[in-house]
Amino acid sequence: ASMQGPNEVPFRFGPPVAVTTCSIMFQDITTLLLDPQAFRDTIDLFVERYKGKNISVVAGIEARGFIFGPPIALAIGAKFVPLRKPKKLPGEVISEEYVLEYGRDCLQMHVGAVEPGDRALVVDDLIATGGTLCAAMNLLERVGAQVVECACVIELPDLKGRERLHGKPLYVLVESH
Ligand code: PRP
Repeated sequence: ASMQGPNEVPFRFGPPVAVTTCSIMFQDITTLLLDPQAFRDTIDLFVERYKGKNISVVAGIEARGFIFGPPIALAIGAKFVPLRKPKKLPGEVISEEYVLEYGRDCLQMHVGAVEPGDRALVVDDLIATGGTLCAAMNLLERVGAQVVECACVIELPDLKGRERLHGKPLYVLVESH
């Protein structure tokens, strides 16, 4: 399938995969990664938006926030902090549980990785119900960081995830209905 983003960067996603047991719409970003120019253009759109904004930390959400977050962090000169699923990080962690379309999950962050006064950008591949981004923002704010914005490649606007972000700005490149 081909999709045209609002910034006129062509994105190519794999076909939606219907998970019949619970009717979850899944958008696969791996085909975007197969095209180096499209991947670079995607990163550049985020970098153009966030460079010079005094962002000190990019927090990437496991798993696909680990693909898009680090190149953005390097380009804007921010540290990268992974927000991981439980029992993956080796050090002392703080945890935030959240509700998914298909159950409960939890994100963890290393204690000390983010400090009071840090200005944070949260990065993930996709926002669906918004529960994951909400948990990520809670983690960052609990340790005294200011969340400047959340950034995703894809939004599923029909699920109204934006409304769960407590008014925090969300920037996306593509909407998928
Ligand atoms: C997907 C996606 C986001 C999250 C969005 O991850 O990559 O992180 O769901 O959903 P939400 O807005 O309803 O919270 P998934 O839960 O499939 O986990 P994974 O990255 O470990 O595969």
